[in-house]
Amino acid sequence: MSKAELVLITGSAGRVGQAAVKELCARGHRVRGFDRAATPGLEDFFIGSIQDAAAVQRAMAGVTSLIHLAATPDDCDDFAGDLVPNNILGLHHVMEAARAAGVRRIILASSGQMNDTQQVTGPFPVRAEDPVTPRYWYAATKMFMESIGYSFAQRHGISVIVARLGWCPRTRAQVEEIAAEERFRDVYFSPGDAGRFFACAVEAPTEVKWAVVYGVSRAPKQARFDLEPAKRLLGFEPREQWPQGVEVVTGAKWPEA
Ligand SMILES: NC(=O)c1ccc[n+]([C@@H]2O[C@H](COP(=O)([O-])OP(=O)(O)OC[C@H]3O[C@@H](n4cnc5c(N)ncnc54)[C@H](O)[C@@H]3O)[C@@H](O)[C@H]2O)c1
Repeated sequence: MSKAELVLITGSAGRVGQAAVKELCARGHRVRGFDRAATPGLEDFFIGSIQDAAAVQRAMAGVTSLIHLAATPDDCDDFAGDLVPNNILGLHHVMEAARAAGVRRIILASSGQMNDTQQVTGPFPVRAEDPVTPRYWYAATKMFMESIGYSFAQRHGISVIVARLGWCPRTRAQVEEIAAEERFRDVYFSPGDAGRFFACAVEAPTEVKWAVVYGVSRAPKQARFDLEPAKRLLGFEPREQWPQGVEVVTGAKWPEA
């Protein structure tokens, strides 16, 4: 895709969003953000909610590629009041606005939680064609998202890339959880690798019409997710490994001195 095109990132102020903004801007892409909060490092951003269809439609004007990250990013206590409006209704508004605006590529942030059992028990690596074993309600909303992504690729001819992501920690507590367990370290996704992954997804050849790919950093012990499709289709290969990049979250290298 040409660098003259416009990439909209929903959830641009979040952990993964800021990483994607940074890498795409560094590569010379035109980037617009959409989030409930201001996006650091971007001049072109909209503040609003994906639950507001009109606000999403305004942000979508002129957009050629969409990275959809805005969501409730894990299970929470309020399914009806939080997961449904954000991950289901908001998704609907974003997808329909993208279709109406003529967006050519949509990249959807799904989760390794789609393969919750197999990423623990194997067989490894988990492949996109393996049956899903979703963790709980949040993962089920991502299944819904993957389903409508497929429909959009088939029905509307939009290039849709589903990105099942490893664990890019948002907080120090999450960094500590990852540090404490080997299998979490294997699925760690550094902010730097996450940024490069989404930039590669934007830049992937137009021939990629529908794909499900995994995004994780290099596994210290056991490669739990199959990175071959991301390499073949997007040209993405992780450069980092736990704990590289955690300083983005903690403010210092890990383990801290
Ligand atoms: N970080 C991970 O380990 C991980 C793993 C798998 C999947 N994901 C997915 O990646 C995406 C980004 O996750 P993250 O870790 O950056 O989360 P995050 O919470 O850091 O960022 C999400 C951003 O979306 C915004 N947002 C939430 N609801 C919104 C709404 N209604 N309207 C507008 N903006 C809204 C938030 O303000 C926030 O800035 C999510 O879809 C998440 O489910 C993340």
